[in-house]
Amino acid sequence: MDTVLSGIRSTGNLHLGNYFGAVRNFVKMQKDYNCYFFVADFHSLTTFPTPADLHSNVKTVLAEYLAAGIDPEQSTLYIQSDVPEIPELYLLLNMNAYVGELERTTTFKEKVRTQPENVNAGLLTYPVLMAADIIIHRSRYVPVGKDQEQNLEMARKFAKRFNNMYRVEYFPMPSPFNFGEELLKVPGLDGTGKMGKTADNGIYLVDEPEVIRKKVMRAVTDAGPIKENQEMSEPIRNIFTLLEIVSPADTVSHFREQYTTCSIRYNDMKKQLAEDIIKVTSPLRERILEIMADDAYIRKAVTMGAEKARASAGKTLKEVREIIGFKPF
Ligand code: TRP
Repeated sequence: MDTVLSGIRSTGNLHLGNYFGAVRNFVKMQKDYNCYFFVADFHSLTTFPTPADLHSNVKTVLAEYLAAGIDPEQSTLYIQSDVPEIPELYLLLNMNAYVGELERTTTFKEKVRTQPENVNAGLLTYPVLMAADIIIHRSRYVPVGKDQEQNLEMARKFAKRFNNMYRVEYFPMPSPFNFGEELLKVPGLDGTGKMGKTADNGIYLVDEPEVIRKKVMRAVTDAGPIKENQEMSEPIRNIFTLLEIVSPADTVSHFREQYTTCSIRYNDMKKQLAEDIIKVTSPLRERILEIMADDAYIRKAVTMGAEKARASAGKTLKEVREIIGFKPF
């Protein structure tokens, strides 16, 4: 079985976009691949969480992934900071990463522009740590969004450089994984673009039904169609996309028909959308709250995850040390 790996930074709650765009696919991949999923808590230090926030953010991500269906027996679900082999590989890879190429990455340049008062070395070497995350298990596939493409390209570059330097075919080249189809893009509620964590346009899996109803009823619409078969504006297209994701097919065609004949009432459509979203999120929300209250279960899952991750990482690091020339006396 090929190895698949993905990391999740421990910042904020999961929203519908994360769920339908990524996590649901992770869940489906579990039986066909050797899967590693981890909480990237070292990476989260670039934004200086307080100790209490750091811990509760990690817990939230774990509970949400477990609730979404990641099976800690079938997959390896672990916390990055539980695997000291990762920072060791990061140190080794840093010796072969050039400051110039790191300074040229888009995400770094963006940080320099937006937070010139805090350009820490962790931000500069973020792609090196991410490469270590990936190649520590000699992963083949990395399911990530478009925003991570450059980081993944750097991971390939560092893996290849290591292979070339020591004339070995040790690390496989990790490629992006896209399920052989277009990634599902879940739109937000503010009329444009996709659902995001930062933009306040998202519905979280833990949102209460009342909160979901309020958010959906506030979603941006337009003045309504005035002639038959009128082309839809972006906000309306987005609402239909959301309906397609969560509602039965006949609900979608019912409102499409009404739109075409100009008899649609957006409020009715939004009410339906809210209820259909709640049908999807309610069981997840209940499960998340259950797991959040069950420290023993979380502990069991991450203890098992750390053990499996360290076994795999330890094997890689032992071989890497030998390749580099660290030998026991
Ligand atoms: N950089 C990723 C993000 O911001 C998180 C991440 C860290 C990651 N290490 C990874 C993703 C390794 C995939 C593989 O979303």
